[in-house]
Amino acid sequence: MPITNNKEIQQTAQRGKYAVGAFNTSNLEITQAILEAAEEKKSPVIIATSQSAIKYAGIDTLYQIFKTLAEKVSIPVSLHLDHGTDFDIIISYIRNGWTSIMYDGSHEPFEKNVENTRKIVEIAHSVGISVEAELGRLVGVEDEISVSEKEGAFTDPDEAVQFVEKTGCDTLAIAIGTSHGAYKFKGEPKLDFDRLKEIKTKVNIPLVLHGASSVIPEVLSRARNYGAELKDAKGVPAEDIRTAVSLGITKVNIDTDLRLAFTASIREFLTEKPEVFDPRKILSAGKKGMKDVISKKIELLGSEGKA
Ligand code: G3H
Ligand code: 13P
Ligand code: ZN
Repeated sequence: MPITNNKEIQQTAQRGKYAVGAFNTSNLEITQAILEAAEEKKSPVIIATSQSAIKYAGIDTLYQIFKTLAEKVSIPVSLHLDHGTDFDIIISYIRNGWTSIMYDGSHEPFEKNVENTRKIVEIAHSVGISVEAELGRLVGVEDEISVSEKEGAFTDPDEAVQFVEKTGCDTLAIAIGTSHGAYKFKGEPKLDFDRLKEIKTKVNIPLVLHGASSVIPEVLSRARNYGAELKDAKGVPAEDIRTAVSLGITKVNIDTDLRLAFTASIREFLTEKPEVFDPRKILSAGKKGMKDVISKKIELLGSEGKA
């Protein structure tokens, strides 16, 4: 069972000039979809759990699902806490078998973010756990702020250098215009690639892109055709993800695209097969939809065959 951490996975990806997908899970079927797709594609993979996913499923339950399934695959896998904000909760993940954690202090002033991140790094490193930190804020269409304010929330390259030096974090999440969820852009999608280039020349540790779902047009129209209300949903085009990877992003976070694939596939299944009421059949349709998306992401990120 090659369970490893994000630092290992991302350093290898950095050397090989590809990125690894970090896919969010909160149950059995999503974890199965992630590991099955990654195993078939011979790709390393990062399984991410948010604090609210743990609240939903329970820390032991999610860990046991992960461990049982990860023991059966032959690819490098990491179990990662996504957007950890609470010190005690972060410690409990470290104690419960997570191999990598994110401390998200992006909402804090710079010095406080540094102080908190450094504290977490000291503890995590003493037990071999890698730490992702975040500098800059992801702002989306729901944040009613002007374009210049938005750009002000992007990661400052020189601050990033200081931040990495002062905290000793292993990997860094940066803000260049993506945001979480299905409604990322009001107009045309626009990422600040010049900023990414500058950060990459100044910062040596592996970089992370959050809010990287594409809101895949085919999946979106299938979900809509079967009744989903997703007006104005818009994501990061696949081409922009490819560019971000070519400029040095080594971890790409995907949650929304799995949620949309699950929704589209289950809606389609229930409409096409109204006589079915077995939860296993219904959930298998959702799982298949997610697995197809994960396989395509692995191809897009260039991690196929890298395990
Ligand atoms: O970055 C956020 C992830 O999409 C997790 O979302 O807190 O609803 O589980 P969640
Ligand atoms: P999306 O909402 O774009 O899938 O982003 C997920 C994410 O960043 C999880 O940390
Ligand atoms: Zn995120």
